[in-house]
Amino acid sequence: MPNETAAAIEIQIANQSAEKNRMLCVMKNLFEPCQAGQLQLATRIVMAPLTRNRAPHALANALMAEYYAQRANPATGAGLIITEATAISHQGQGYSDVPGIWSAEQVKAWQPVTAAVHAQGGKIVMQLWHVGRISHTSLQPNNQAPVAPSAIVAKSKTVLIENGVPRFEPTSMPRALELTEIPGIVADYRQAAKNAILAGFDGIEVHAANGYLVDQFLRADSNHRQDAYGGSIENRTRFLKEVMTAVTQEIGGGRCGIRISPVTPANDASDASPQKLFEHVAAFLGPLNLAYVHTIEGSTGAARDYQQGETSFDYAALKTAYQQAGGQGAWMLNNGYDSELAKSALNQGADLIAFGKAFIANPDLASRLRQNGPYNTPERATFYGGGEKGYTDYPSLSIS
Ligand code: FNR
Repeated sequence: MPNETAAAIEIQIANQSAEKNRMLCVMKNLFEPCQAGQLQLATRIVMAPLTRNRAPHALANALMAEYYAQRANPATGAGLIITEATAISHQGQGYSDVPGIWSAEQVKAWQPVTAAVHAQGGKIVMQLWHVGRISHTSLQPNNQAPVAPSAIVAKSKTVLIENGVPRFEPTSMPRALELTEIPGIVADYRQAAKNAILAGFDGIEVHAANGYLVDQFLRADSNHRQDAYGGSIENRTRFLKEVMTAVTQEIGGGRCGIRISPVTPANDASDASPQKLFEHVAAFLGPLNLAYVHTIEGSTGAARDYQQGETSFDYAALKTAYQQAGGQGAWMLNNGYDSELAKSALNQGADLIAFGKAFIANPDLASRLRQNGPYNTPERATFYGGGEKGYTDYPSLSIS
């Protein structure tokens, strides 16, 4: 009998350690490869899109190539870089000195950037941007009013730079887009995706977050249209659906991602029922065979538990809605992540973690995450505009 008990205990221990090994096998870590659609990524560490306003005349330049190259080697930096938001048209621009991707000259200007990233063994996708109402007449073609789903001014500010000095300025009153203008904007997204590939990018991310044009269509508070693009959730999501259909048709779903921010109040974005709205969006995205879905949890750059509407947002339900609709793209999360939070998100099913401010200040973020710091502190004064100071001069561990 004692022998039987001992044998039973041994079996139990063996089972427990097999279970532990299984757990260790399925536990993900930041430093392992990840397939995201057609993107074969060396790690799960992503550099989040970060506007830096260092592209005068909307053209990428050598300083930008250096900045991205510093962060491109997956062994020390990012497994995937998402560029700063890049305007798909002159009308889509809302801040001084941000880059564009609508002209042949812009395509050519980006080529050295993608080449520099690839030379480091890195991967880079371009974030495609139309700001809608988050703009200023001085940045628009012929100083016209910015466009939006409806003529409702955003309680928000944009960054204007004069003589090298950045200042925040209230956004201008927009005009409502005519129904006949919308196909032209969808075509601009399609062309921008094509141009990004010509410029050497590995793919694109549609910026559907943070209160810009796609988000303005999504949310009832900024979209008062009474045509096929406003009213019901079906109608408010029509623009996003047309944009995603266009870019995935153009370059293939496996090279496309999307960024959403279901509850952020950034740029005056608000809606009383984000859960229903974004589960509808997620279900639409499912069959598109995307590389990834990138979700900002909470208020962008602020509280992760920020709430819009009456209940706190259920991100697990969002993912379920995507996967139940056939979605197999990588699940990317962002907002306030550090090493510990990233580990726990990966263990709860996330595939990729995007780091923003940490990548501004730490070109070799992966090396620092691997050894638990130390981390340089990002300097806010040099976030938007300027030159190499606060841009390419943050030290790496080996030279700090
Ligand atoms: C941003 N963010 C941002 N988001 C985006 O989708 N496109 C962009 O171009 C920018 N630009 C940008 C510039 C700067 C200077 C900051 C600080 C932030 C938001 C960013 O990608 C990220 O969501 C937030 O910074 C939160 O992530 P972290 O910083 O907590 O990791």
